[in-house]
Parts: sequence; structure tokens; C-alpha cells
Amino acid sequence: MQIFYRNSTKDFLIGIVILFVLLFNSCSKKDTPAPDPCLGVSYTIEYFKTESIGNSNNGSIAINYPIGDTISYKLNNGTYQSSRNFSNLAPGNYQLIVKNQKGCTDTAQITILNYGPKYALVKQLIVGYCGPCHYNGGMEGGKNFDLDVNVINSWDRIKARAVDNIPSQMPAAPNAILFPPDKQKIIDWINAGHRISD
Ligand code: HEC
Repeated sequence: MQIFYRNSTKDFLIGIVILFVLLFNSCSKKDTPAPDPCLGVSYTIEYFKTESIGNSNNGSIAINYPIGDTISYKLNNGTYQSSRNFSNLAPGNYQLIVKNQKGCTDTAQITILNYGPKYALVKQLIVGYCGPCHYNGGMEGGKNFDLDVNVINSWDRIKARAVDNIPSQMPAAPNAILFPPDKQKIIDWINAGHRISD
């Protein structure tokens, strides 16, 4: 009885020791996880987009950064492509996903607007003739035309200054005044209702 008791105590103690050895081993043998190859990888995606005009579903996105042989791109649930250009886009919200050779991804949310054909022509001439004074942050005379809403809200002032040249011409002298076909684009847009959809 006595022997049995001592043996069982001994077994118990041996058991504890084995348990500790196992625990210690399992801890020391634990694999250090492989470093995440995407840790710290993030891209400030830069792109140029054009809006879709009328019913033509012809919006576009061209990625300017990141670019390179090992970078691929996709929109929404599409498949990855190596080309950094997307065309024939319908108006809407898109998620652009950029992936590098290690499979690390970054995303950008891009909205393709729907411009009416007349407004598209006016916006084009504003970009062409009203910068830098009123475009890309330019604020001359308190007017900036980067946002469509600002163009829409200023339709009457745009006509007064760039079509009628009252009280003085826009683009401001010594720049040339607009050519008659460009003035006509503004007039056509205003007559149609001077909205973004016209
Ligand atoms: C070289 C610079 C320059 C360019 C280019 C230019 N502007 Fe201006 N614009 C100014 C300055 C300076 C003022 C403020 C003085 C004034 O009102 O004459 C102004 C003021 C304005 C105003 C606000 C004043 C008002 O009458 O309501 C409008 C609207 C305007 N510009 C429209 C245009 C349009 C449209 C274009 C392009 C077709 C254009 N401008 C091109 C310099 C420029």
C-alpha cells in the first residue's frame, strides 16, 4: 500500500515534469510568423479621369501612379489587367484595385460623372482657356471652376464675361477673347438649360 502510494506520487511528479517539458518545448518551438510582405505597402494612387458624355458610356481612367511591369489593375469585380487604362466606362462609382507582384493591393474610389454633350464642350473650354486664373485652384475674382457646381452656379457670369465681354473681356486681357465657335458653345449650353446634364 505504502509502495503503491509512493509510486503514484512519483508518477504524478514525473507527469508534472513531463508536462512542463512539453509546455516549454511547444513554446520554444513555436514558429515566428513570416513577416507580412504587404506590411507598410501602400500606394497613393494617382489617376486622370474623363467623364462619360451623354449616353455614350465613354468615361475613362488612366492611372499615373503606381505604374510598372509588375503592377496590375482591376475595376470592381473585374479581372486584373496590366494596362493602366480603362475606357468605355458608364457613369457610376468604381473601386480601382492596384496589385503589386507580391499580391499586395491598394484601392481608390473613383466616380465617373455623366456630362451632357453641351456641358462637356463648355467644361473643355473652361479647362483650356480659364486656367490658371480660375482652374487648378486659381481663384481670380473669387471664381474657381474646378468643381462643376461652381461652373453651373456661375453660368450667367461666364456668359457676361466670356461671351459678351461685359464689363471687360474674359479671358482677361492681354489674353485673346474666345473665338466665335467657343462663344457659341457657351450660348448653346445656356439655351439648353445650363445644367450639367445638358
Ligand atoms: C489670365 C487670367 C484670367 C483668365 C485666363 C481668365 N480670367 Fe476671369 N478673371 C480674372 C481676373 C483677374 C478677375 C477679377 C477681375 C475682374 O473681374 O475683371 C476675373 C474675374 C472673373 C469672373 C468674376 C467676376 C464677374 O464678373 O462675375 C468671372 C465669372 C470670370 N473671370 C470668368 C472667366 C472665364 C469664363 C474665363 C475663361 C473663358 C476666364 N475668366 C479667364 C483673370 C482671368
